[in-house]
Amino acid sequence: MSATSVGHAGPPVVVKIGGAAGVDLDGACEDIAELTRRGERVVVVNGGSDAGERLLSSLGLARREATTVSGNVVRLTDAPTLRALTMAWVGEVNKAVVLALLARGVSAVGLCGADGRVLTANRRAPLKLQEEGRVRIDREHLAGEVTDINVALLDALASVGQVPVICPPAVTADHVLVNVDADQVAAALAVRLGARALVMLSNVPGLLADPAEPSSLVRESDDARGSMRLARGRMRYKLEAAARALEGGVPVVHVSAARAARPVFCALEGLGGTRFTQPGRAVADAGA
Ligand SMILES: Nc1ncnc2c1ncn2[C@@H]1O[C@H](COP(=O)(O)OP(=O)(O)OP(=O)(O)O)[C@@H](O)[C@H]1O
Ligand SMILES: [Mg+2]
Repeated sequence: MSATSVGHAGPPVVVKIGGAAGVDLDGACEDIAELTRRGERVVVVNGGSDAGERLLSSLGLARREATTVSGNVVRLTDAPTLRALTMAWVGEVNKAVVLALLARGVSAVGLCGADGRVLTANRRAPLKLQEEGRVRIDREHLAGEVTDINVALLDALASVGQVPVICPPAVTADHVLVNVDADQVAAALAVRLGARALVMLSNVPGLLADPAEPSSLVRESDDARGSMRLARGRMRYKLEAAARALEGGVPVVHVSAARAARPVFCALEGLGGTRFTQPGRAVADAGA
């Protein structure tokens, strides 16, 4: 599809704006506006963990954790929980990103996975949970993995200069909303769209060798999977997503701070954050 004078062409930059507490939208949205003024194609993904937790607790919906028979701790997502999380991710955070982009002259279109079926997912099998010495099967858990992306819709938006802002949940083939990890969404989009870079902005400076010590930033790595030994909690999901993006052919993945000045350019220019490259690929060759 050819780009019009207002269209954005070329391999996109995928920018994932984390939803953890302390993430700031302004710097990221300034940089996204600058990239689009330069005619670059940008696809934005937003997370929403902090807004989701705040809404759940204000509704008195505590999110239960459970342990699977294989020993993994999972946060259960039943239908009322997913309904509230969707309100926060889509109604609050996604619209805040759209408004922040509109205010900077970017024509942004907010989409959750169901809108235009931009993200199709497989629903995960029922969970086998270990509870008080017994195994319980949980069939209520609404979680999945992205299996398909509506590339034609995203190409059509790019051709008329519209910047998509995409967030979970995704939708199954039989029209059920399911929770998907926003980092995995960003990685899947970067792979399917042949992105030139994936930038994941969060509330930390990047991958830290010691999570309690901001100065222990890992500046670069050509082994995203190997770096997982340094990560705890949700940073592990982020590194898994980074590894999948690299394995899918994305040349470079940046994990860096949303609060930095010019956070997207800072990451793309290698001035901040952690830069993950293809195994054995010199950082200088990564083509950011
Ligand atoms: N080694 C590490 N280096 C950096 N952060 C780490 C590390 N290990 C664990 N973390 C945690 O990972 C968190 C970042 O992941 P988190 O999922 O909370 O943010 P996000 O992906 O930006 O938000 P969202 O999931 O809402 O989009 C940090 O706030 C930190 O607490
Ligand atoms: Mg996260």
